[in-house]
Formats: sequence, C-alpha cells, structure tokens
Amino acid sequence: MQEKINGIREDIENLVVKSLDEIEEFRIKYLSKKGLIASLFADFRNVPNEEKKAVGQALNDLKTSAIDKVNELKESFSHADITKSGMDLSLPGESMKIGTRHPLSLVKNEIIEIFTRLGFTVSEGPEIDDDWHNFSALNFPEEHPARDMQDTFFIEKDPDVILHTHTSNIQIHDMEEMELPIRCLTPGRVFRNEAISARAHCIFHQIEALYVDENVSFADLKQTLTYFAKELFGKDTQIRLRPSYFPFTEPSAEMDVSCSLCKGKGCNVCKGTGWLEILGCGMVDPNVMELNKIDSKKYTGFALGMGIERITMLKYGIKDLRLFFENDIRFLEQFTTAM
Ligand code: DAH
Repeated sequence: MQEKINGIREDIENLVVKSLDEIEEFRIKYLSKKGLIASLFADFRNVPNEEKKAVGQALNDLKTSAIDKVNELKESFSHADITKSGMDLSLPGESMKIGTRHPLSLVKNEIIEIFTRLGFTVSEGPEIDDDWHNFSALNFPEEHPARDMQDTFFIEKDPDVILHTHTSNIQIHDMEEMELPIRCLTPGRVFRNEAISARAHCIFHQIEALYVDENVSFADLKQTLTYFAKELFGKDTQIRLRPSYFPFTEPSAEMDVSCSLCKGKGCNVCKGTGWLEILGCGMVDPNVMELNKIDSKKYTGFALGMGIERITMLKYGIKDLRLFFENDIRFLEQFTTAM
C-alpha cells in the first residue's frame, strides 16, 4: 500500500500538462469516484490495524496533494490560454510593422496634389511604346541628334518597340484620346541606357503636365510654374526661366528655383549659384499639335516635365540617387511624411 501511494505521489509531482483537457483527464484518473485514489481508500480496510494510522495519514496527504495539483494547474491555465497545440494565445502579439511610403511616391503624390488643385487630372500610359509616340509625334525628326539625348532601350531587334525614354509619350496618347481642352498629368517610370551612378540611373521617374486650350499663353505657363514652385518648396521660393531646346516645345525653357537651403546666397547644393535646375517646359510646338490633329491656329498649350528623383534629392538632401532603388529599410523608414 505504502509503495502504491509513493508511486502515485511521484506521478502527481512530475505531471506536466499542455491543455485543460489533460488536467481533466488527470482529475478523472486520480480523483474521481472510480479513480486510483478512491480505490486505495477502498483497499484501506485491508490494511493491518497497526499500520492504519500511518497509511491513513499518507492517503489523506496524497488526496490533498492531488487536489492541490489540479487547482494549481487550473490556476496557471486561467492566465495562459494555451490551446491544444500548445500555443499560448494570451501572450502579447508581435506588433506588425507598418510600412512607409517610398520617398519618390511621397514627392510624386505631392506634385500631383498641387497640380490637381489647378484642375489637372492624372493619366497613365504605356511603358513600352512605339517610335511614333515616344519620338516622331513629339517632333523629333528621324535621324535627328535630339534622339541621341535619350539613349533608348529597344525591345528585341524591333526598332519600333521601345521602353519609353520620357513620359512625354503619354501626352501624345492623351492628345489622341482626350477631348479638348486637355489638362493632364503624366507620371511614370522611364528608361534610358545610362550607366548607373550617384546622379544617374537607367530607370528613373518623371512627371509632366500638359495644358491645351484656346488662348493658353506663356504667361499662363509662368504663373503655373510660380504657383507650383512656391507650393512645393515654400512661399519664399523664386523662379527663373532660361531659354532651352526641346523638339516638342517652342519656345522652350528650363526652370530654376532659388535654393531653399541658402536662400539664394550660394551653397554646396546649388554650387554657389543660389539656383537649382528643376524642370523643362515650353509652349507646345505647333508641329506637335498638327501631328496630333489639333488645330494649331485655334489651340495653344504648354507642357512641363521634371525628374522626380532630382526633386526628391533636393527636398530631402539625398546625395546618392542609387539609394532610391536599393530598398534598404533603414533608408526608406525615414520618410514618413512629405516635408
Ligand atoms: N521630356 C523631357 C526629357 O525627358 C522633359 C520635358 C521637357 C518634358 C520639357 C516636357 C517639357 O513636357 O515641356 O528630357
């Protein structure tokens, strides 16, 4: 008898359970009416009289420790909701990391928002296009050196299927498809066969704006640019336009903004000039209108286009363009809101 009692005590002490069901199994096995402890009590009458006191004491102790064990296990399970699989659902969860927007998306969205306030709508266009939309319809003559300004990726050996070298091809699709007047924004990823460095990449992003209507003038362009620059870089920002050349605009200009870091006094970023080059623009060349079946006697328009990487680098003081494409979380996490 004493041996049996000791054996059961050991079993109880070493018991490990994974679920409430197992505690119940244990309770039934040891403490129920037909359980092991009850059967020992039944055998008690066969214990010789002189041992009754000690065995009775040991039996009572055994029963108490079994009840204590059940209560103790139940108590531990009331704090930890351990499922059958042994998973503790009450433990604090691992917090999900919320991603942040890519700095290029932040700046692109900010630019879109500014132009949306002026009534522009966003159009999407193909990244793979033909020569007509990317060059010819934009007044790039065949064999003209202006085509070399944008080192093109050709798809397979077909010279008429290319990766668009700028987002200006989307303007052509819009002129074909939209009803006049047109006020569109064309953001996109563009491709040029250029060596990758801190300042250049073979994939980068542009956004353009096109406005075609009756009586659109250079003054409208200048006013739009001034508003845009002040909204993006701050109210004190000044702009200046320098004459330039693009096949699809005439006259063409490049816009500089006053350096927001040194307020035009001259610093490293603006290389001492006080000005930063931001975008290209101009009045839509009448040839482009005619090539796209728009009456250039009745309608005029302006276009402007910029590289999103460059603007983002200037806004956030980023020195190496390659950082945008490496997807290093430590870099990307820093841009939670647009500045
Ligand atoms: N497409 C030009 C480029 O990639 C940028 C550009 C310049 C776009 C002037 C325009 C514009 O719409 O008017 O270099």
